[in-house]
Amino acid sequence: MTTEAIDLQELASSARRELEASDDEAALESWRIAYLGRKGKLTSVLRNLSELPLEERRRIGGEANRLKEELESALEAKRQALQQQRLAATVEAGWLDVTLPGRPKRIGRLHPITQTLREIESIFVSMGFSVIEGPEVESDYYNFEALLLSKDHPARDMQDTLYIDYRRDGEYPFMLRTHTSPNQVRYMEQHQPPVRIIVPGKCYRHEATDPTHEWMLTQVELLAVDEGISMADLKGTLFEFAKRMFGQERRARFRCDYFPYVEPGVDMAIDCFLCGGEGCRTCHHEGWIEIMGAGMVHPEILANMGYDTDRYTGFAAGMGIERICLLRHGVEDIRMFYANDVRFLEQF
Ligand code: FA5
Repeated sequence: MTTEAIDLQELASSARRELEASDDEAALESWRIAYLGRKGKLTSVLRNLSELPLEERRRIGGEANRLKEELESALEAKRQALQQQRLAATVEAGWLDVTLPGRPKRIGRLHPITQTLREIESIFVSMGFSVIEGPEVESDYYNFEALLLSKDHPARDMQDTLYIDYRRDGEYPFMLRTHTSPNQVRYMEQHQPPVRIIVPGKCYRHEATDPTHEWMLTQVELLAVDEGISMADLKGTLFEFAKRMFGQERRARFRCDYFPYVEPGVDMAIDCFLCGGEGCRTCHHEGWIEIMGAGMVHPEILANMGYDTDRYTGFAAGMGIERICLLRHGVEDIRMFYANDVRFLEQF
């Protein structure tokens, strides 16, 4: 190698020019290999320094090392500049606009029946009732027998039952409960008066469905036993409940009804929200929608629980939550509640 052959000025300016012209990562890498790689132009100069006379070696060595440092940091600066340019181009193209607000998350909500159930619970809790729960798979004893519905009692037909496929002595002793009333007995077996409880829960019936009937329904059982409880307390409690639930302007009605476990028995209805009492498809042309059965607890049941029937009397009621929700919100068909249509459910 001769001094003439090593024109560092020329090498430096071509290196700077080419680096300036490299506009992507691949071009930068080719440039690095051409000048600074193992067989690169500047590396060759440095490697062959020993062939030069001492004076030349010092001068050119010093210059070549300075140039190497300069080119290395120019390469790094160029890399960073390219990276910045890429980021800016991405933002420009709209891939990432960091100033945009985040996408809102869809927030779930409580099912309308759960909302109604909570409202009902809070009304009765404010009147001094406690909330308890009972099993959904129930025995024949609690669902019927203990409520004075013996095996051959015709009133068993009032509720078509879904039995569990398990037979004992030729009979099916377990079922999905048809109402929450078994919990009257379950609770009284374990507690002495005074009693003031409500029992919310799902019930099941083998029923043809229509605008006011579902095969799965939610009930709230109401039970109060104490000294001096009368029909007036039952009526006062339920009419107060209806006022708080449906407002002052809605009408409520008591009518005689029969349930073997109460005497006397009644059902309570609210005037139809759709026709205002005229009669329509939703109220089965009656003008009223029945929301619960109720009555004075039969003294025989109190006696079976070991309660002193000369001292204690009680009232009980079982209300249908889907019907109450339907009346409350003007829903025309009870089957909407469990059809899983989000467009319907989102309105509550
Ligand atoms: C009973 O279930 C009694 N256990 C109520 C009772 C309790 C009476 C305590 C006396 C003392 P009934 O079958 O009528 O009664 O049902 C009560 C309420 O549940 C009805 O008024 C209605 O609101 C609701 N209900 C009954 N069947 C259905 C159904 N298939 N779909 C929707 N709601 C129903």
